[in-house]
Amino acid sequence: MLHNVEKNPCKIEEIRKILKSIRDKDKTVGLVPTMGALHGGHLSLIDACLATNDVTVVSIFVNPTQFNDKTDFEKYPRDIKNDLKLIREKKCNITFIPSETEIYPERDTRQFDFGLLDKYMEGKFRPGHFRSVAQVVSRLLSIILPDNAYFGEKDFQQLVIVNSLVRQLNLPVNIIACPIIREPDGLAMSSRNQLLTAAQRKSAARISSTLLKAKELSDKMEITELKEYVNNEINLDPNLKTEYFEIVEETGLNPVNSWSENVSKRGCIAVRIGSIRLIDNIKFS
Ligand code: PAF
Repeated sequence: MLHNVEKNPCKIEEIRKILKSIRDKDKTVGLVPTMGALHGGHLSLIDACLATNDVTVVSIFVNPTQFNDKTDFEKYPRDIKNDLKLIREKKCNITFIPSETEIYPERDTRQFDFGLLDKYMEGKFRPGHFRSVAQVVSRLLSIILPDNAYFGEKDFQQLVIVNSLVRQLNLPVNIIACPIIREPDGLAMSSRNQLLTAAQRKSAARISSTLLKAKELSDKMEITELKEYVNNEINLDPNLKTEYFEIVEETGLNPVNSWSENVSKRGCIAVRIGSIRLIDNIKFS
């Protein structure tokens, strides 16, 4: 008999006990870590988790330490009622909604060395962000002890860093990467999309359409020229302002300067729309 834990705050001891009894029966456990305000992207992670694991745990915790902008944290969408409804409809087994003091009984002072992985892109524009993501993800993994944990490719740099974290800490978990889920007009699904005004929402579709166009143009333009094209194309819309567009190699995230480099390449972008910041990416080859 599987349990549904939908108490807020939910005690770690309680969830550990439930999961131990599940593991004792040789059942596999999958974790979908989220910050709530669930959308189709999260639901696709949940589907992937349900398809391969005996038990699916969805965690909802808006981790305050990973927001380097206080207003971003305050404004971050929260809708626990709807989240629980969606989770229930998916027939997930366990929902874990810890309180801040449960996750951080003491201040987390751990540092991690991710080399160049957290130096560019999000790491450059959001100082300290990945250190806090690594801290909270390692805590969630050590509480739930899942066999598999599911992360979306929209946060591509986060995915690469979580893989590095798991290797560094020798954690016995498979990190499963799931593809970006898009709205019908191409906008990558994100909890922050709901903060956009109607006009901003319309403009935001330009991010993915420009990335797609860039992919088409990649056999006609050199990388520097293509980067300029993407920046200009996005910034043509007065609602949008690119923070960065980088083409990086997928495992080490080093910037790639020539198409001839024999590595898998990904174009990663961050765009500001008013006070909201959206990220997206596209695989080149
Ligand atoms: O991607 C997210 O929603 C968050 O960064 C995560 C992985 C749940 C950690 O807070």
